[in-house]
Formats: sequence, structure tokens, C-alpha cells
Amino acid sequence: MKNIFTLLLLLFAISANGEKITGEYKIPDVPDWAKNAVFYQIYPQTFSDSDGDGIGDLNGIINKLDYVKSLGVDAIWLNPFFDSPFNDAGYDIRDYYKVAPRYGTNDDAKRLFDEAHKRGLKVIFDYVISYTAIDHPWFKESCKEEKNKYSNYYIWTETNWIDPPKEFAGSFIKGYARRNGQFMRNFFWSQPALNFGFSNPDPNEKWQLPTDHPDVKAMKEDLKDVLRFWMKMGADGFRADMAGALTKTSHTNGNEQFFNTRENATKLFWREIRALLEKEYPHGFMVAEWSYPTDALDKCFHVDFFHWFNGYNDLFQKESWRILNGVSQGHSYFDVEGKGNITNFLKSYMGEYENTKGKGYISIPLGNHDNARLGNKRSDKDLEIIYAFGFTMPGVPFLYYGNEIGMKQLPTTWPQVEGAYQPRNGARTPMQWNNTKNLGFSTADASKLYLPVDPASDAPNVESQEKDENSLLNKTRKLIKLRKSEPALADYAEFVPLYAKENTYPFVYARAAGDDVVLVMLNPRGEKADATFQVDVKYKKTKLLAGDKFDIKSNKKEKSITISMPGQSYAIVRLVK
Ligand code: GLC
Repeated sequence: MKNIFTLLLLLFAISANGEKITGEYKIPDVPDWAKNAVFYQIYPQTFSDSDGDGIGDLNGIINKLDYVKSLGVDAIWLNPFFDSPFNDAGYDIRDYYKVAPRYGTNDDAKRLFDEAHKRGLKVIFDYVISYTAIDHPWFKESCKEEKNKYSNYYIWTETNWIDPPKEFAGSFIKGYARRNGQFMRNFFWSQPALNFGFSNPDPNEKWQLPTDHPDVKAMKEDLKDVLRFWMKMGADGFRADMAGALTKTSHTNGNEQFFNTRENATKLFWREIRALLEKEYPHGFMVAEWSYPTDALDKCFHVDFFHWFNGYNDLFQKESWRILNGVSQGHSYFDVEGKGNITNFLKSYMGEYENTKGKGYISIPLGNHDNARLGNKRSDKDLEIIYAFGFTMPGVPFLYYGNEIGMKQLPTTWPQVEGAYQPRNGARTPMQWNNTKNLGFSTADASKLYLPVDPASDAPNVESQEKDENSLLNKTRKLIKLRKSEPALADYAEFVPLYAKENTYPFVYARAAGDDVVLVMLNPRGEKADATFQVDVKYKKTKLLAGDKFDIKSNKKEKSITISMPGQSYAIVRLVK
């Protein structure tokens, strides 16, 4: 029944032509500073190297805070900077309480928080708690034959020889420890899953502990202390890695235990965390890497990243995860070839959007460290149109470092360092500051760099784009500024697709907050595009706020607008009352 209802809702929502603009909205309950915020994501190992060892560090980031501020963003998300054996670029944490020496010290972290705050910037850290590193002291204890406090902190079967039920095939590692049992991993083999318990333990599998088992509860308390430690140090919240993959279920299908478990038990844990923050650190902001906003925003998180679903690929992902036997699968809507289909994205997005209005925010990240760069075989103009979309959608934009200057996805044959198998390695290369040695990232010998810098003679860099008013960098700044100055572009403002058809360009939508209405028109395809769509609100004239020249005609009688847009163009237009 629920499914039929959702389907009807979807059909209604995506039969876009002529949808009603009401201007109604409800602002979700988020900390004040986070209202209408724009985030910048910094990958610490490749942002700025202050000590010349070839790896970025916290002092390097501090040195660049004025630049970050100049983008017009409000906050920074820092990928993990904790002590780690670096089998997964630092996501595999060995000591939750210590900054990895290659990035600096805990004092540097404190100074980073303080220096950011001085500039009015907030900082959230990566809270990676679905597993630890294989050489975390808790896991070492858990591996021991003798029972101890940590024996149940991880998920172990009873013996090394009897395999867990077949649904778990591939997710247990045998023969590692002195302890007789197989442990569950949550990502790579060296990332043992912390034990949040099973929501429905199988009575025949005694090793599946319930979520309220005292050892499970003790483990969760330890993780809460980790959060308190960094909040006290000065953090303003966190991004939760693999947020949906905490509690396990005994009835899985394929990979469900790793990603996207829509388990109520996982939600209950995050609600505990939300309550903790509201009580102890009410300014704390919670961002999920879950990609099921309906669940993640159900009184748990303030924001959910919506990118682990096919519709995201249909938006942005040209090649990357979709390469099968060397052939790219599908098309991105934002490619100049114009073979994309915006309804693939909207089919998933609209349902989640309707379910979460007023509850929290969906974030469609503008790149990140796990996907190919948006600048993957794309021009600056392609990117500008993508950003026109990204900075005018509801929710909280996250801009990945370097995308503001159009850094390129680098060849996938490059070193696959620290678990950065393609396409991740090519998206994590050093920030390009200027055209000096190592493009200004580091003074180290090029052979010592974490990853090589872009070797292209015309590799984009900050310094040269600063000087050019029309550079992607300056256009990105303008779009961020526009988002923050137009009430209709606020994070909570209503989103209404007006012209969104199968395999068709352009894509047009309205954003509205009360009487303020802005229309966004996107034609990333290389050919001109025409459209007529209904706009049932009163206005005197239209005003181009950003974008390219195009023809627009208001047919007041029919309450419609007709546009004709040149190839590769966009327009953000206010309806002036
Ligand atoms: C998340 C991180 C990714 C990491 C994985 C395992 O998806 O973003 O970089 O490898 O989780 O933690």
C-alpha cells in the first residue's frame, strides 16, 4: 500500500509540466549557524603541505583559511585526520583521540578550530564509527583468546571453521586471530565492524548479539566519548561515515549489511547521538553518509548526502564507478553531448524530498573524495552549469576542494595509494595553488608527494584564476553569493520542477519562499533548447540574476513562459512582483 502511494506521489511529482508553486516551506530544526550554510570539503593529505614532507597537514589548512573564507562558504568538512595505519586513507582509525603525526598534533587541531572560528567558519570532522582500523587497541584485545572487555566490541562468529549463513558470504575474515572465530568487516578486510548488535538476532547463531547487549552498549558509550572529545576541542559537528551500516540484520540480501540498511535500530542509535548533542553541544551539526534521506532525516541527522544511488550517476558521473569492461555505462545530464535524462535523477530525488521536507536537508555533493572529479573530461563551462544547479537546489551544498577551479580527474593508472582504487585516486590529487613547484602544494621533491600533481601545462590554479574576473573560481563565488542573497534560494525554500521531461533539454525548476520566486533553467547540452511551461504565480517582469543571455517570453494569459536557450547555457531568473 505504502509503495503504491509512493509511486503515485512520484508520478505526480515528475509529471513536471505545470506543477504548482506555493512558496510554502517549513524550516527544519538545525543549529542557527547551519541555516543556509555552504560547506567546503578539505582532504587533509592533499590540500596544503606546510612542512615540506609531501603530505598536506593541519597547519597547511590553517594557512589557507583566508582563501576558504573568500569563497563565501560557511563551514569546512575535514576528512579523517586521526592516527591510522592508512589502509583506507585514514578512514581506518587506530586512535580516535590522536591526530596522525603526519598531519600535526592535537594542539594543531585545536588551533585549526580556533582560527576557523575567528574567521566565522565552522568545522565538522569525520566520525568513522562503523568499524576501526585492524590495529586499533580495542580490536587487538578483541582478537585475544581470553575473554576481556573488548571481546564483544566486534562481531565474531563462534569458530573459525563454521561459516556464518550464506547471506554473509564475503563479509567475514577467517584465520586472523588467536581467538577461535571469524570477524566481520565493514569495508576492506582490515576494517573490522564494530558491534552495534543485530536488530533481529538469529537464535541459531549465538554470536549475533542483540542491540541492547551490555557489551554493545558499553562500546556505544565509548564512541560517544570520542564525539565529546572533539566537540570539546572545538568541532562544530560531524559527518558520519557509512552512517546506515551500524546495526546488522540476520536477513540480508547481498550487501545490505554494508550499506543502506534501513534498520530502525541504526536510527535509534543516531537519535541517541542527536539527543546527546542537543543537550551537551547544541551547536553540533550532524551530516550523514547514508543516501537514504527518508531514514537519515527521521529525527536523526540534519543532513544526508544523497549520492550513493543511480540518479546521482545520471546527474554527474561520467565514467568512474560506471565503467564495466572498459565501457562507460549511462550518461550524465550535464554533458555537452546531451544524452542525459533528468527524470532518472528526479525519480529518486522527489520521493525523498517530499518525505523529508521540514525535517532536514538532502545534500547533493558537488564532488567528493569517493567519486571521480566533476571535472572529468569537462570544460569550465560544463562545470559552471553544474554549479548553477548545485547552488540553487534545496539543502546544503558541499563543494569538494579544487572543484572551484575546475581541477581535473587524473588518469586512473596513477598510484592507487592507501586504498584509493580508481576512480578515487584521480580525484584526490594535490590542490593547485599557483604555477610554481608542485603547483604550490608542497616544497617536497615531486617523488615524495602523496599523489602526483596534475602534469598538464594548463592545469588550472588559484593564483591565475584570482586575476580573471570570468574564471570558474570567481563564477563559483558569485553563485555562492547569489544563493545566500536570494530568499527563494534558501536551503528550505520550496523546489518545484517545471519542465523536466524524459531525455529532453532544458531542465527548469522554481525555488520559492513565500512571495519570492526564482526560476532556474539549465541547458548543458551543446544545442539550443526551447521550452514552454506553466507558471501560475503573479509577477510583473523577469530579471536575470546570473547566467547567459536567452529569449524569454511571458504568456500572461496562458500563465506560461516560453524560453529559447542557446547551447551550453543557464539562467537564474527572479520573478519580480
Ligand atoms: C566512506 C568513505 C570512503 C571510505 C569508506 C569506508 O564511503 O567516504 O572514503 O573508504 O566509507 O569507510
